[in-house]
Amino acid sequence: MNISFLTVVVLLALAPPSAKPQTSTSAPASQAVVLQETVDKVLAVAPVALPIDPIDMARFDGDVVVRVSIRSAQDLMLVNQLSDDMWSHHVGIGGDADFRMSQAGVDTLQRLGIPYRITIPDLQNRIDAEQTRLAQPMEGLAWFSDFKNLAAVNTRLDEMVAAFPNLVSIVNAGTSIQGRTIRGIRISRYPAGTVLPAFIFTGTLHAREWASTMTTMWIADQFVENNTIDPRIAAVLDSAEVFVFPVQNPDGYEYTWATGGNRLWRKNRRLISGTTYGVDLNRNWSVGWGGSGSSGTTSSETYRGTVAFSEPESVGMRDFVIAHPNLVGHIDFHSYSQLWLWPWSYTTTLSPDQTALAAVGNPMKTAIAAVNGKNYTAGPSGSTYGLTGGCIDDWTYGNQGIMSGTIEVRDTGTYGFVMPTSEIIPNAKENFAAAMTMMEKLLASSPITITLAPGSVVADNTASTVEIQTVPVVSTLITNGVRLKWSLNGGSTQSAVMASIGSNKYRASLPAISCASQLSWFVEAETKFIITHAPLNKPTSFNLTSTNPCFNPADLNFDGTVNSADLGLMLTSFGVCPVPTNCPADLDHNGEVNSADVGALLVEY
Ligand code: ARG
Ligand code: ZN
Repeated sequence: MNISFLTVVVLLALAPPSAKPQTSTSAPASQAVVLQETVDKVLAVAPVALPIDPIDMARFDGDVVVRVSIRSAQDLMLVNQLSDDMWSHHVGIGGDADFRMSQAGVDTLQRLGIPYRITIPDLQNRIDAEQTRLAQPMEGLAWFSDFKNLAAVNTRLDEMVAAFPNLVSIVNAGTSIQGRTIRGIRISRYPAGTVLPAFIFTGTLHAREWASTMTTMWIADQFVENNTIDPRIAAVLDSAEVFVFPVQNPDGYEYTWATGGNRLWRKNRRLISGTTYGVDLNRNWSVGWGGSGSSGTTSSETYRGTVAFSEPESVGMRDFVIAHPNLVGHIDFHSYSQLWLWPWSYTTTLSPDQTALAAVGNPMKTAIAAVNGKNYTAGPSGSTYGLTGGCIDDWTYGNQGIMSGTIEVRDTGTYGFVMPTSEIIPNAKENFAAAMTMMEKLLASSPITITLAPGSVVADNTASTVEIQTVPVVSTLITNGVRLKWSLNGGSTQSAVMASIGSNKYRASLPAISCASQLSWFVEAETKFIITHAPLNKPTSFNLTSTNPCFNPADLNFDGTVNSADLGLMLTSFGVCPVPTNCPADLDHNGEVNSADVGALLVEY
């Protein structure tokens, strides 16, 4: 018997067409499992040496994506009964939201008089066209000419390391449920462990949001390829380190590409029970966990898990962030809707840092628009998007004090998750501009001008004064946040709070140093999100050297070291001072050169 024929028969028998659109949560997987079992049974009865045909990916024949205007809570309830796959964002009453549903569902909307507009009439055709395109050979084409699967993403990261081993290294954030490493790269001119501000750009927490994978890969690519050519990138890399994790949900992402998978999969691939899979990795974080916009129903696309951090993927990312307390900025990229959302997500209450978030966030929106003219709606997530408890960015901000937020990249619904390749680069470029602006604004959060400083050579045993001016532009300085720091002869770093002297000026003294000492110093200004340093945003030092070389009295012949020649000179005048008023060998000045002086010399030997 022909296995393909068997496949068709079994599929028809197992999956009668139903009025309810096929749910992306369970149906394809259950079909796959049951089908595999059936095939196994048939083969066991009548073993045939035939390879089993690949099982197709989940299909959405007859489904459309529809933009529904939600006028009331009742509308929302009804629409949720017609669709279990909300594609967009804004669920607020009085707004629009996109849903995938069957044509029968659309007919019901029509009957109920709920206003709607079909945005994607031919969903399965578009997925088919995408599959056909991706099946073409890609050799010779530029990397960003098409979307890339997990293996290709990983290869590209490895290639970056190979091409720039002194700049790029692989980092990882633990292991997914199915055992895949959550891989990222560190881009830095400095050795790991150097104290520098750090930024992290993350993507593909939701598997089907392929545009977020390409956006984060573009950011990585720009930073690596143009690290010296582009002066803005070079400046950031002089002062900071950058982490990029393009795929935080590797199992889910793989599933959106795999034979037997589902192009529209969102969650991770935890087997919950029976044929129900997946926790929403952007509802599994502890800040606002369990709140509105997340679900306790296992089959829901926004299922939050049994407890915050129930999933290894969120634990891995969490632990990576905790292990890098120097992180100051984070953007988590999603698709789609063209939104730039900053905390909070779990509440509409404004965050205590709203002013600072807007001071960075509004220029980011402007920077996006400057690239291709695209307007992204920007604002605090809770009121701009709707409530979502347990998101990654509320945690990086709320728990770790990192300036953070979510960008929903292109488009606004014409393409949704199945974006044409022509959008990849323009989309990536405008979002790169957002990332760049966040980094530059944060690094210039409280620029320091040194208004009074000692020269590089100072008089012995004289304290010197340092004065600086700093005007915070992103957030206010913390209490005692302006500090003068120094280290004497390479010893441990000392710190003194600089006193405010008005007009945003601050003053403190450097300690006096004596001959042959060296003092290195810098100034830092600490705001909520970042510590800026003078002159750069890394602890660059100024060096002070004393005016005089040290004169060691035991170095009787002035050759710079105390050695046998000096001992010889001392022994020549042992017992006497040739000229008692000028007797260098009389180290203790008691009028004669004796064993006490030899002892003193040997101490310096
Ligand atoms: N589309 C994203 C999600 O559903 C947005 C989350 C809400 N906003 C945010 N800043 N976390 O997970
Ligand atoms: Zn998402």
